[in-house]
Amino acid sequence: DARASFLVISNRLPDAPSAAAGESERARNVGGLVSGLAPALAARGGVWLGWSGGRRPGALELAVDASSTPARASFDFHPEWHTRFYNGFANRSLWPIFHGFPGRARYDESEWRAYVEVNDVFAEMATRLVAPGGTVWAHDYHLLLVAASMRARGHSGPLGLFLHIPFPALDLFETIPWSRALLDGMLAFDLVGFHTRRYAQSFVRCAEELARATATSSGVRVDGREVRVGVFPLGIDAAPFEEIDAATEGEIAELQAALRGRRLVLGVDRLDYTKGIVERLDAFGRMLELHPEWRGRVSMLQVAVPSRADVPEYAEQRRAIETLVGRINGEHGEAHWMPVRYVYRSYGRGQLAALYRAADVGYVTPLRDGMNLVAKEYVAAQHPTSPGVLLLSRFAGAADELEGAILTNPHDRDGMARDLVRALEMPAEERIARHAPMLERVRRSTPEVWADAFLHELERR
Ligand code: UDP
Ligand code: G6P
Repeated sequence: DARASFLVISNRLPDAPSAAAGESERARNVGGLVSGLAPALAARGGVWLGWSGGRRPGALELAVDASSTPARASFDFHPEWHTRFYNGFANRSLWPIFHGFPGRARYDESEWRAYVEVNDVFAEMATRLVAPGGTVWAHDYHLLLVAASMRARGHSGPLGLFLHIPFPALDLFETIPWSRALLDGMLAFDLVGFHTRRYAQSFVRCAEELARATATSSGVRVDGREVRVGVFPLGIDAAPFEEIDAATEGEIAELQAALRGRRLVLGVDRLDYTKGIVERLDAFGRMLELHPEWRGRVSMLQVAVPSRADVPEYAEQRRAIETLVGRINGEHGEAHWMPVRYVYRSYGRGQLAALYRAADVGYVTPLRDGMNLVAKEYVAAQHPTSPGVLLLSRFAGAADELEGAILTNPHDRDGMARDLVRALEMPAEERIARHAPMLERVRRSTPEVWADAFLHELERR
C-alpha cells in the first residue's frame, strides 16, 4: 500500500496561485492556521490535503506534489463550491455564529448541501491518500463532517479534529438549523481539540444537551463510544521575530525616521469584523479627544490584510474602516500630523517583525478570536530591555496565556481609550516585568509542541 500513514486536511494550504502574477507564481496564504501548521508539519512528513485556492468547472482532479514536505495534495473547487461552501456556509454561517455574531449569521439550505458535499469530497480524497489504519488530522470549521464520511468509506485509523476558532455557547450553537448534524459530525472524531478550556467546555455542554452525551474525565461518552476532548493552545515559532536581521534593522530605521519621534500604536489583522478594527479606531479617536496632550505625539498604524473580499459583510467592513480612518484624520489631524495610517495589504514575516519591534503598543483587540497569533508575535519581537506594551482583548484565546498584557474590553470605547493611555504611559520597569514572563511562555509554546501534544493524545490507545 503506497498510501500515507499520516494525513493532514485543511481547507487552506500554505500557498495559493496568485491571480496577479499568473498561475505559476504562488502567494503565501495569511492566517493563523497556516502560520501554525506549516512549521508544525515541516519535520513530520506525510501528506497535507487542501483546496488549491483555484476555481474550475468540470471533472475533479487531485494533484499531488511530492517535492515539498509534507507532500501536498490539492484540488480546485467548482465555482459553485467557492460560492456556497467557502463564501457561503463556512464564512457566512459557521464563522459568524462560532464567533458569537448571531446577527451576521444567515442560513441557506443550498449552502448547507454544498457544505455536506464538499466535506464528502474531502473525505473521498483523503481516503484515497491515507492507509486505512493511518492517522488523519483535520483542521477547522470547514471540515466538521469529514470523519463521519471517512468512517463510512472504511477508514479505521485515528481521526482527530482541531478547531482554530472559538466554539460557541449552547444558546448560540443550537440556533444553527443543522446544529445536530454538525455536532454528530464532530462527535465522529476520536479527539476534538480547542485552543481554550472555555471552548472545550462549550462543546461538551452542547454534546450533553443536544446529543445526550455524558461528560467523562477525558471528554464525552456518546452511543457507547468515547470521544476525547482536549485543550491545545497553538503557539508560534518565536525565533524569526526575535532575531532582527540587517534588512529588518533598515526597515525599523526608516519607520522611525517617518515617525519623527512620535509613539507608534500598531494593529495587524486580516480585514475581518471579528477583529474589532472599527471599535479599535474609534477608541483611538476617543483617546485623542479625552487626552489632547497626546495629539501630535502618537500615530496609529493599522495593517488590514485583504480577506474573503467577495463576502458582502467583509466588503461592508472595509468601507466602514476606510470611512472611519478618513473621519478621524479629518477631525484630529494637522497638516504635519496624521493620527492614523492605514494600509490594505499583507506583509512578509521580516517586515512584520520590524513593525512589531518599532511599535510602542501592540493594539490587538478582537471582539472574539480563537487564539490570535499576532499577539504572540508582537511579544516575541520586543526588545527585552525596552519592550512595548501589549494591549489585548479579553476575548482573544491568547488572553488565557498572556497574563502580562493589559487586558481590555473592545466593546467599551472609553475603557479602551483609558487603557491605551495607560499603555502609552507605562514606565519601563513595569513594561519589562510584564514582558519577560510572556516571552518565556511564547518561546516554549511552539507549533511543534502543540502538534506533538495533539498527535500524542490522538494516537494513544
Ligand atoms: N500575517 C502575515 N502578514 C500580514 C499580517 C498577518 O503574514 O500582513 C500573519 C501573522 O504573522 C499571523 C497570521 O497572519 O501569523 C494571523 O494569525 P492570527 O491568529 O492572528 O489571526 P487569523 O488571521 O488566523 O484570524
Ligand atoms: C482563520 C481560520 C483559518 C483560515 C484563516 C484565513 O485563521 O481559522 O481556517 O485559513 O483564518 O482565512 P481564509 O478564508 O483566507 O482561509
